[in-house]
Amino acid sequence: MNSINNIKTVVFPVAGLGSRFLPATKVVAKELLPILNKPLIDYAVNEAKNAGIERFIFVNSPHKPSVINYFKKNEKLEKELGDKNSEYFKLISSNLIEQENLIEVIQDKPLGLGHAIWCAKDYISGPFAVILPDDLVLSDVPCIGQMIEVYKKSKSNVVAIQEVDKNNIEKYGVIDYYKNENNIYHVKGMVEKPAKEKAPSNLAIIGRYILNPSIIEELSNHELGVGGEIQLTDAIKKLINTERVIGYKFDGNRYDCGNIMGALEAQLSVAIKDEKYKSQVKEIINNLCKD
Ligand code: UTP
Repeated sequence: MNSINNIKTVVFPVAGLGSRFLPATKVVAKELLPILNKPLIDYAVNEAKNAGIERFIFVNSPHKPSVINYFKKNEKLEKELGDKNSEYFKLISSNLIEQENLIEVIQDKPLGLGHAIWCAKDYISGPFAVILPDDLVLSDVPCIGQMIEVYKKSKSNVVAIQEVDKNNIEKYGVIDYYKNENNIYHVKGMVEKPAKEKAPSNLAIIGRYILNPSIIEELSNHELGVGGEIQLTDAIKKLINTERVIGYKFDGNRYDCGNIMGALEAQLSVAIKDEKYKSQVKEIINNLCKD
């Protein structure tokens, strides 16, 4: 069980339709699309593991392949690679998670992110983390780990924020705040996908949250918000009446891999940061730019 200061549980909502990645997502879950040789969900789980999280809840759709198989043993493949003494053997055993810490919950219909989180309610007994795997964050200290530190000091709900161009603001949940100290913003309001002229700030919420379990009660009303979906932002906004909510400007780079250009940028960024690929990637880009 979670103690108040010790966040050990993460929820990964992975039940979305992935429309922007059709037709690939007809057969491959968006979260399993690779950035180099690892699927997005691998980066998300590693971020959580490196922040000390031990229990992993995946909220999936009944129509999508199970994401958790990726973290289970594949005995047939292990045997074949083992028999061949393959250099690839270690790659399939490095990402295993013990069965009892791997939980899959089904969201029958994609009614929105808020509804997906509510579906995990039976496994939530204390503060917990939420990571949207299609938001890839590359940072020295795991983004969710930075947020856990903020939670430990403040006991407040924490949402990750970043500055975005006002021309793109209507794609995001946006915070309104009454004061800030360095990277900590004290939230007084939130608007989901505001029109540019109605946005209270240029600080957009990205796919990382630390939430108190009281969020589940707020979500249980199943109130519909923007786009006819049950929005997590609306439920957090209600919490502001009784609890503190902090917007935390994290240290790191975030890539929106839910859209094609964001995923391409992530591919290039991960490759160029890797000494093994760096010079080849530069050469490829230089050659392409000559044409
Ligand atoms: P998105 O809206 O970005 O993802 O939801 P999507 O719906 O999969 O993609 P598009 O918009 O159709 O291209 C953000 C996150 O919330 C999850 C998604 O899987 C994604 O991780 N989600 C969204 C759910 O789990 N259930 C939902 O009902 C909606």
